Amino acid sequence: MTRKTAAIILAAGQGKRMRSSMPKVLHLCGGLPLVSHVVRLALARRCDPIVVVVDPRAGKRVRELLTAQFPAAPLRFAVQERPLGTGDAVRSGLGALRSFGGRVLVLYGDVPLLRAVTLSRLERALGRLSLAMLTAEVEDATGYGRVVRNGAKVKRVVEHRDASARERAIREINAGVYVADAALWRRAVGGLGRRNAQREVYLTDVVALAAEQRGVAAVAADRDEVRGVNTRAELQQAERLVRRRSIAHHEARGCTFLDADSVHLGPDVLLGKGVVVGVGVQLWGRVKVAAGARIDGPSFIRDSVIGTHAVVNAFSHVEGADIGAGASIGPFARVRPGTRIEEGARVGNFVETKKARLGKGAKANHLAYLGDVTVGAGSNIGAGTITCNYD
Ligand code: UD1
Ligand code: MG
Repeated sequence: MTRKTAAIILAAGQGKRMRSSMPKVLHLCGGLPLVSHVVRLALARRCDPIVVVVDPRAGKRVRELLTAQFPAAPLRFAVQERPLGTGDAVRSGLGALRSFGGRVLVLYGDVPLLRAVTLSRLERALGRLSLAMLTAEVEDATGYGRVVRNGAKVKRVVEHRDASARERAIREINAGVYVADAALWRRAVGGLGRRNAQREVYLTDVVALAAEQRGVAAVAADRDEVRGVNTRAELQQAERLVRRRSIAHHEARGCTFLDADSVHLGPDVLLGKGVVVGVGVQLWGRVKVAAGARIDGPSFIRDSVIGTHAVVNAFSHVEGADIGAGASIGPFARVRPGTRIEEGARVGNFVETKKARLGKGAKANHLAYLGDVTVGAGSNIGAGTITCNYD
């Protein structure tokens, strides 16, 4: 029998170090708010429900954004009235899981790079133990909680500020991601105190409690996967990692990038086999590029479909369009929403299209505005042509 797993995503932190009026977890990373990466991860692990713990100030915006972005997701929201620490945040989250009897995964809303395979390893490691936690070996562990072991066994986690010099020398850190039965969380979190250097309710105290019961599994994760974002510099670092990961994903599927560092690919981009992506290409939103197509940069494409062996030449801006197989766009084309370019048609330099349909093999090679128009198959639109719907 497989048991249900719920997720609690901690997202009530202030994020002061971002120096922003926007809640930290709403900052974009790879085109997606930080917290949305984590919701996607919880959905990938089929967590149900998914509780997002928010603070009273930013909570409304986080809630609105997530419910709009994931209308079908089993999301719940819990407000943590005061930032008393991670233990208190989980206590708030459990308040939204009253009758839930399965396992509960605890995640952070500001850790965007964690992968589903790693969580699946974590969940498997729990077995009959009381708690499973993710850890990582780092060069500089300053600021993190250290994993204190007794021989091979995890004994507890000590926070940097509470650690002795000897404990500070430990390089195995607590990533802050855990899974345990809801029953254990309820029992453990209820009794947490605040007797520590930060006067906070430490979720990490649960580790010592679990160690005294059926034990704790520590699952080693890749250092980059468990990086949290607290500053703009860390956000940029996460951005680079998200980008590198998505490029590697597409390369493995047979795409070529002429200069991967200059390319931005949103999370909902699909590229077919043999697609070639040039220097400075940005693909945002839902973009689907079919096999063998070529996108030269710099070009910007949002929410569009590019057909097989189609070519988007340099300096093109394409939005909300459907470009047919073997069609050619640009250089310097502005293709606006509602445009449909059929098979083999061509839109050349300094041509703007909007709600325009160009039939098979039609051409508009230079200097035209084509709005609200249907151009028949094989037609040739001359330079200087304007069609529009203007009252
Ligand atoms: C925590 C862990 C530490 C671990 C580190 C990993 C504790 C006590 N310490 O440290 O062992 O190495 O994470 O990054 O848990 N949050 C709330 N409400 C609060 C406090 C925090 O929602 O009252 C959220 C934050 O938004 C964040 C997450 O919980 O997403 C972690 O909080 P943070 O303050 O960054 O944790 P640390 O104290 O750094
Ligand atoms: Mg803290």
